[in-house]
Amino acid sequence: MPKATAAIILAGGQSTRMVTDMPKVLHEVCGRPMLSYVIDACREIGIDRLICVIGYRKDDVISAFAEDKDIVWVSQAEQKGTGHAAIVCRDALSDFEGDVVVIAGDMPLLRSETLGLLVKTHEKNNAAVTLATAILDDPSGYGRIIRDEYGNLQGIVEEGDCTEEQRHIKEINPSYYCFDKKYLFEALDQVRPDNVKGEYYITDALHILIQGGHRADAFRGVAAEDAMGINSREQLAEVGRIMQNRIQHRLMHQGVTIVDPPNTWIDARAEIGQDTVIYPFTYIHGRVKIGRFCSIGPFAYLRDGTVLKDDVVVGVFTELKNSLLGSGARARHLSYIGDAEIGKEVEIGAGTLFANFDGQQIHNTVVGDRTYIGQGSILVAPLKVAENEQIAHGTVVKEGDSISRDGGS
Ligand code: UD1
Ligand code: CA
Repeated sequence: MPKATAAIILAGGQSTRMVTDMPKVLHEVCGRPMLSYVIDACREIGIDRLICVIGYRKDDVISAFAEDKDIVWVSQAEQKGTGHAAIVCRDALSDFEGDVVVIAGDMPLLRSETLGLLVKTHEKNNAAVTLATAILDDPSGYGRIIRDEYGNLQGIVEEGDCTEEQRHIKEINPSYYCFDKKYLFEALDQVRPDNVKGEYYITDALHILIQGGHRADAFRGVAAEDAMGINSREQLAEVGRIMQNRIQHRLMHQGVTIVDPPNTWIDARAEIGQDTVIYPFTYIHGRVKIGRFCSIGPFAYLRDGTVLKDDVVVGVFTELKNSLLGSGARARHLSYIGDAEIGKEVEIGAGTLFANFDGQQIHNTVVGDRTYIGQGSILVAPLKVAENEQIAHGTVVKEGDSISRDGGS
C-alpha cells in the first residue's frame, strides 16, 4: 500500500517583481491561470489532499477556482516567506499521515511525470526530504544547491545570500520538494528569518534536517526547460512561449496540421480534430472545439464558445465568438459571427456581420441548413433564418423581414 500523499501549493505571494495588482498565480499562460497547471499536475499523480496557500487578494483566487471542489484553501494573512506559507498548513494536515509534496504555484511548466518521480524516489529512499533539482546554464534568480565533496546535499542558498563562489553553481532549486510530514513541521519550526530578505525560507528546512542527522536527498530530475518559475512579465512571456510549443506539439501528435507554428496561438483549452489545417496568424482563445477536416485561417480569430463541426472553412479576417457552425459551413472572408447557431453547409459571404449586440444586450441568431448569405449582409439579432434561404448581397436582415431570393451565385 503506497503512502498517502498531500500537496501544498504555495500561491500567497504578492509578487512585486511582476508589478501587478492581480495575484500572480492568476496571470494566464496560454489562456489558463498559471496555478491551474500546477493543480492539474498534482491531480494527475493522484494526490490525496490538495492544499493551496493564498494570501494576497485571496478571494480573487478562490473565485477563479470556484468549480474546483477538491482544493483546500489555507490563508496566509501576512506573506513572511515560503517557509511561513508552508507552516500555516499545519492545521489543515493535523489528521494526515504520509508524504507532503511542497511546490510553488508560479511554475506551470512542471510535469506530472517529474512530480511522480519525486514522490517515488522519496518513498524508495525513505528520506526525510527529497528534492528534485535542475542544471541551468544561467542559474541567476534561483536558489543554489550546495553539496559536499562527495556530492551529498548540504542545503540550499538563496541567490541573495550566496558567496561569490556559490553564485557560480549551476545546480538550482526549482521548488519541487517531498517531505515526510513528521519532519516537515519539525524543521519549519526551527527556520529563522536571518537572511537578506528577512523571510522564513522553506529552503532552510533542508539544512536543518541534515544538521539533525536526517536523510535529505537531491536528484537532478527536472529538465532545464521545466524549471522556470514566473517572477516577471518577461518570464511570463517566455513560459507562455514554451507552453504554446507544448500545446501545438500535442495537437500535431493528434493529427492536426499547423502550417506555421511560431505564428499561431492556440489556447490550452482548445480541442482540434484530426486532419484539420491551421494556417498562419490564427489566434484561438478560450474553450474552442474544432472538428475534423476543417480549414482555419490565415488570420482567423476564434473566441470562447466557438464550436466547429467537421469540414468547416473559416478564412481570412473572420472572427467567431460563442457560435456553432454546422458541418460543411463556410465563412471564408472578413466576417464577424457572434452568438449564432449556423446549420450545415451554410455559405457565409464575404463581409457578413452578425449584429448580436443592440447596445444593451446580446441576442442570438439561428441560420438553417444550406442557407446562402450574400456578401456584405448584416443579420440583426434576435433572428431566425430558415433552411435553404438565399439572402441577397448587402441585405440588412431583421426578424419579420421576408427574405429576398435574388441573391447568391
Ligand atoms: C523560490 C525558492 C528558490 C527557488 C525558486 C524556484 C525560497 C526561499 N526560494 O524563490 O530557492 O529557486 O523559488 O522558482 O523558497 N509564497 C507564498 N507566501 C509567501 C512567499 C511566497 O505563498 O510568503 C509563494 C509565492 O506566491 C510563489 C511561491 O511561494 O508562488 C514562491 O515564492 P517566490 O517569491 O516566487 O520565490 P522565489 O524567489 O522564486
Ligand atoms: Ca518564483
